[in-house]
Amino acid sequence: MNLDRYSSQIIDESDIAAVCAALRSGVLTQGATIEAFERALCEYTGAKYAVAVSNATSALHIAYLCANLGAGDEVIVPAITFAATANAALYCGAKAVFADVEFESGLIDWRSIEALITPKTKAIAPVHYAGSLCDMEAINAIAARRNLIVIEDAAHALGSFDAAGKSAGTFGAMGVFSFHPVKPITTGEGGAVVTDNAETARRLRLLRSHGIKRGELWEQDMIALGFNYRISDINCALGLSQLKKLDATIARRNAIAAMYDRAFACADQIAPLKTPQARHSRHLYPVLLRRGADKARLFARLRENGVGVQTHYKPVYRHSFYRSLLPNQTPLPNAEAFYEAEISIPCHAALSDDEVAFAIDAIRAEIAAI
Ligand SMILES: Cc1ncc(COP(=O)(O)O)c(C=O)c1O
Repeated sequence: MNLDRYSSQIIDESDIAAVCAALRSGVLTQGATIEAFERALCEYTGAKYAVAVSNATSALHIAYLCANLGAGDEVIVPAITFAATANAALYCGAKAVFADVEFESGLIDWRSIEALITPKTKAIAPVHYAGSLCDMEAINAIAARRNLIVIEDAAHALGSFDAAGKSAGTFGAMGVFSFHPVKPITTGEGGAVVTDNAETARRLRLLRSHGIKRGELWEQDMIALGFNYRISDINCALGLSQLKKLDATIARRNAIAAMYDRAFACADQIAPLKTPQARHSRHLYPVLLRRGADKARLFARLRENGVGVQTHYKPVYRHSFYRSLLPNQTPLPNAEAFYEAEISIPCHAALSDDEVAFAIDAIRAEIAAI
């Protein structure tokens, strides 16, 4: 059964062969496969530059540093996201300021952004939750008016495009992708920053590898406080192989999403998430339970039946760490309601039609009882 996970990687023989070839090549890191993977990411997304790193969290960290986020600065992030979107701001000595989301989509409510801007605000980091594109036109317009830098957290959204064919991650100054196993492609662990700015790409590469610049012969000079956020050629060999299959993987995820859409169209206890654009990575298939429904019971019963459900996400400010950091944070109404209502049901390309039908039957049976 693949149903016990809300999302999963698919590794086939071609992936295994690609990793074996990388292992046999004699170059395990800092080799040509990393550059080849970066070029392939540029081709896929239409970005001019891609810098592959160890994971999306490190990608966010160096992207924020390239946006010059430092002590006392503020970055506006949605409350509904994985903690890393906010944590990376703290790594820079900056502060994460939480914006509310739209209840129907889980996306940052761009209308709430302007009121959160202070003289310390440097950046906005919208999250393309589940693979749905935020309203980037509206967000970019605010950023341009208020002189802010936009860094897209597109960890969920490799394979999401707007109607004009523009990729997630290419609307702002920088875009960040994750290649963790639950994501649209995997490198085991991995991430990347894409940008159209040559100077930003140069600085991202510098920060990825200790801040050290190589000169002639043995000469090396550390010119910035960098990190070891490098990814290996082994990981990138897997990424290259996975990228070739991304469109097929996403097509399958969308076919599963269409089955769920049809099955739940008339259910009054749950509503599928509003997904703004057609070309969608379908990283997650979230449903929203009607207000007052017993989510805990449904969640437990589905897991007992082998249907691997999860919730994405607890509002970040609710985590114990953020509670003590931000004792005066007021709860954001839509983020709170979304957390109460949201369940991600299994949606990944390893699922068979029978497994999807099983999940639908189990969900139908259980929601009838809540
Ligand atoms: C929205 C979002 N941003 C960032 C990350 C961090 O990604 P990684 O695990 O590659 O560091 C995740 C991971 O789940 C995520 O969901």
